[in-house]
Amino acid sequence: MWWRRSGPAVGLDLGTAHTVVHVEGRGIVLEEPSVVAVDQATGAVVAAGHEARMLFGRHPEGIRLRRPVARGVVQDAAATRGLVRRLLAKALAPLRRRGRPRVVVGVPAGATRVEAEAIRRVVEEAGAAAVWPVPEPLAVAVGEGLPVEEPVGSLVVDVGGGTAEAAVVALGGLVVARSVPVAGDAVEAAVLQHLRTRHRLLVGDGQATALVRALAAGRARQFAEAVPVAGRRLDSGIPATVELSAAELDAVVAPLVRTVLDMVRAVLEAAPPEFAHDFLERGLVLTGGGSLPLGLERRLQEETGLPVTLAPAPFRSAGLGVGRLAEDPARLARLARDVGTALPQREP
Ligand SMILES: Nc1ncnc2c1ncn2[C@@H]1O[C@H](COP(=O)(O)OP(=O)(O)OP(=O)(O)O)[C@@H](O)[C@H]1O
Ligand SMILES: [Mg+2]
Repeated sequence: MWWRRSGPAVGLDLGTAHTVVHVEGRGIVLEEPSVVAVDQATGAVVAAGHEARMLFGRHPEGIRLRRPVARGVVQDAAATRGLVRRLLAKALAPLRRRGRPRVVVGVPAGATRVEAEAIRRVVEEAGAAAVWPVPEPLAVAVGEGLPVEEPVGSLVVDVGGGTAEAAVVALGGLVVARSVPVAGDAVEAAVLQHLRTRHRLLVGDGQATALVRALAAGRARQFAEAVPVAGRRLDSGIPATVELSAAELDAVVAPLVRTVLDMVRAVLEAAPPEFAHDFLERGLVLTGGGSLPLGLERRLQEETGLPVTLAPAPFRSAGLGVGRLAEDPARLARLARDVGTALPQREP
């Protein structure tokens, strides 16, 4: 078959915020920001991931940072190709085994056929010998060790940087899936907006990112504290600091939390009733970096009444899943291959 044994088997999670690469026999070898440095004059990608961030600090002239993936799909094909090519090269450099890699790549459940094909093509053009796309919720379920092939409903909720997705996985495929463009990036945007309108404070993107991370860390520890934010007053231009209380931050993210909770509810409602018993007994698995600043673990528990298991490494679930599948071609072949068919059982 075309998934023949040639180059190394690689799992690729091309996320809006982070790209994770898993190499057979080694596990996850890199986890880097989905960022490229583009030379403005030539349009060439000169660095990717961590390296792009570092280069940017030192050579700001003529070099722009770009995030080529949006809502989990390819927004800028040339830049995404550069990102994948460089990260694959970095991941595979220490290997003795040569040859072009065979890549299992995750595709968001909410992607259209055209978007799924764009992902497949970019990875191929970046140097893969073969590309096998799998729906991301399926990859997440495999990564978390759920019994995806069995006639048991596994409910997974993945809140990343660009999208939040919820799906029921059973018998090797997606039974129901829903997706909303509300995740970590939206938290950042909401906080920036709040600071601007309510506090008349302008802060840099870096500040907003740091704030969201602080929020995520605070949530993880389950305690509330005020976060100081430094910026520039919109009216006077003078530097100032405001203290954002936990309650205030809660109010800012509340509408986003609501959107994600409604999405999960919609999946529960659309799932065949035969699965109700599985959900009650086994609960749901929550993953993705965006679930942290939204405080979703507790809120999902309250809202659904189901036991919620937060993945031990929320940035890695999908990467681990595509990696495991790449290592096991027989298992890969047994799973449903329909990606980019848009969402199964989408509401009319
Ligand atoms: N310490 C942290 N560092 C980076 N991001 C963090 C951190 N803590 C929480 N986050 C949140 O995690 C989000 C990214 O999560 P994740 O890596 O799962 O997304 P992704 O898989 O790249 O995106 P998507 O699945 O939507 O394509 C960020 O948008 C940010 O809000
Ligand atoms: Mg993701």
